[in-house]
Amino acid sequence: MADERVDGVRLQKVLAARGIASRRVVEDMIAEGRIAVNGEIAVLGRRIDPESDVIEVDGVLVGVAPDLVHYLLHKPAGVVSTASDTHDRPIVTDIVPSEPRVWPVGRLDIETEGLLLLSNNGELTHRLTHPSFSVDKEYLAELDGEPKPGDLRAWRNGVELEDGMTAPAKASLVSPRVLRLIIHEGRNRQVRRMCDARGFRVKRLVRTRIGPLTDTTLKPGEWRVLEPEEVRKLEEATGRAEGSSG
Ligand code: URA
Repeated sequence: MADERVDGVRLQKVLAARGIASRRVVEDMIAEGRIAVNGEIAVLGRRIDPESDVIEVDGVLVGVAPDLVHYLLHKPAGVVSTASDTHDRPIVTDIVPSEPRVWPVGRLDIETEGLLLLSNNGELTHRLTHPSFSVDKEYLAELDGEPKPGDLRAWRNGVELEDGMTAPAKASLVSPRVLRLIIHEGRNRQVRRMCDARGFRVKRLVRTRIGPLTDTTLKPGEWRVLEPEEVRKLEEATGRAEGSSG
């Protein structure tokens, strides 16, 4: 059934929009013969009808209707954690596929870098951002000075901010001026304010972990689709999977 279509949508565009990989990578996958349309290996330039054609990637069916998607992005500095910006600044949703529509799960300040989830999974988003489902987030903060044991003790016990005491955090030094801080509250600019409370300015802030999610291979501006196992672990971390106290 290899009918020549002049209409239709380019295969790499459809698969990129569904979050399989970037267009460039999908083109490589097509060239490698990993993608079939209606049971036949697709060639570069193939156009399809996204509504009716059946696509397989490595022999696995790709759902026709977009379903829940979860992207892990390494947010670069200078990009806003929002799905729309009135000031016309670069936004995180411009980096990932536009279809289906996704939203950032929580927020990183414009100057903060590192791991950010984007998803259309409303329930998981709620659980990850709501304070009652505390999920650890780990940050590396480069400071303008060298914390002393008393500073580390203060962060571990909780420091007074204008919106109240912080919950006990895990704090350690990876080098004299680089602090690793693990918090689970997610208040606005919390790491910067916690450092400020001890007299330090954060020169650079990078989020390196969200609950069970880490990825040291993603470079700033790169993203990938979460593995099903990672989604399961996230759900478990927010108490949804079996084994939770229910
Ligand atoms: N804490 C901050 O201060 N900024 C962030 O972006 C995240 C946590």
